[in-house]
Amino acid sequence: MKKFEADVLIAGSGVAGLYCALHLRSDLKILVLSKSELTETDTYLAQGGISTALDEKDIPLFVEDTLKAGDYENKVDAVNILAKESIENIMELIRYGLQFDKHNSGLSYTREGAHSVNRIVHQKDETGKAVAETLIAEAKRRSNIELWEHTTMVDIIKEGNRCIGGVLMKEGEIIEVAAKDVVLATGGVGGLFKKSTNHRTLTGDGVAIAIKNGVELKDADYVQFHPTVLDRGLENERRFLISESLRGEGAILVNSKGERFVNELLPRDEVTAAIERELEKSGEKCVYIDISFMDSEFVKTRFPAIYQECLKSGIDMTKDRVPVSPAQHYYMGGIKVDLNGRTSMENLYALGETACTGVHGKNRLASNSLLEGLVFSKRAAKTINETADKIELVKEGKGYTLELDKKAVIKELKGSSGKYEDELFSY
Ligand code: SIN
Repeated sequence: MKKFEADVLIAGSGVAGLYCALHLRSDLKILVLSKSELTETDTYLAQGGISTALDEKDIPLFVEDTLKAGDYENKVDAVNILAKESIENIMELIRYGLQFDKHNSGLSYTREGAHSVNRIVHQKDETGKAVAETLIAEAKRRSNIELWEHTTMVDIIKEGNRCIGGVLMKEGEIIEVAAKDVVLATGGVGGLFKKSTNHRTLTGDGVAIAIKNGVELKDADYVQFHPTVLDRGLENERRFLISESLRGEGAILVNSKGERFVNELLPRDEVTAAIERELEKSGEKCVYIDISFMDSEFVKTRFPAIYQECLKSGIDMTKDRVPVSPAQHYYMGGIKVDLNGRTSMENLYALGETACTGVHGKNRLASNSLLEGLVFSKRAAKTINETADKIELVKEGKGYTLELDKKAVIKELKGSSGKYEDELFSY
């Protein structure tokens, strides 16, 4: 078995893992892992954009929109931080070189469900790709950051309630990594669902590690379904999202008779429920999103990736309605963390979709996920920077296992009421 040492070991190369790495001190040796390729993350797939307060005056309204969408189950402190620290993080991405779409001399803001105003910055319909490519390029420029692809963290190494490293599987080889701090940023749980917009490889690994080590979870059964996912009638493939920003720009939802049945800009859970009621009533498999009545040049320029993907299925969205149905999209629950990403285990952090900061409550407000990844991973990095010198590296690992137990994660997702029984794979 191989051994390796790092100051900080980060599992996950999405926005949370990479942004945390980029905010760690340059004298710390950092190892970032990707289970597959660096770009195979849900960050890369994000279409709509990143929410941000427009200015100081917009902060209270942004907070209220986030709380309302979350059914007021959100952690208010976390929501205040999200809104207050949003602008500085968007500015930081711009300093890294990310070019958001512009309107006149400023940023172009779009709208999505349950936002009272247009406050979502974007790069056409591939904002996540722009974020991922920007962060990966920046990480590659840093000599203190190592990026390992095709490497899965299968367990942490602990001493009592203190995390002292991680165990990795890389091309069939086991590698023990001694680390002062370990960060779980392994993304969501969509790979456990039959229909999901997530990469199939994202199977709640961080949550599985937390469960086997007695690390506390929060809202473990809070899963979000996106209302408008391209319905090609295919089984067991990753579902292609039809971004909520289409509705933000004016697209409507209709049934097969062409009738509208819901306010398209309600919170995501309410639109999903309305579609499910409509499908129940009609006995059909999908409803339709219609943007064909808008200027075709605008549609093709504003949504080029979605336009091209629909064409592959023979649908020209400048002329045709696009068949959509709900699919699993996001995990609001996860490993319970404080406002600086700390879990219930010492020196173990969780970030992004793997963590539950409580910011989303019961239902995440559209485009708050990349923002959460930015804001809370920067805060975690600050805490790690301030404490790393006091932590001693422990080089002897013991007591870990190599199994990532998907069934244990599924049990948590189902909760006491046995939710999502039909939607989840059974292993
Ligand atoms: C979308 O573009 O509809 C997804 C954005 C999000 O998940 O918030």
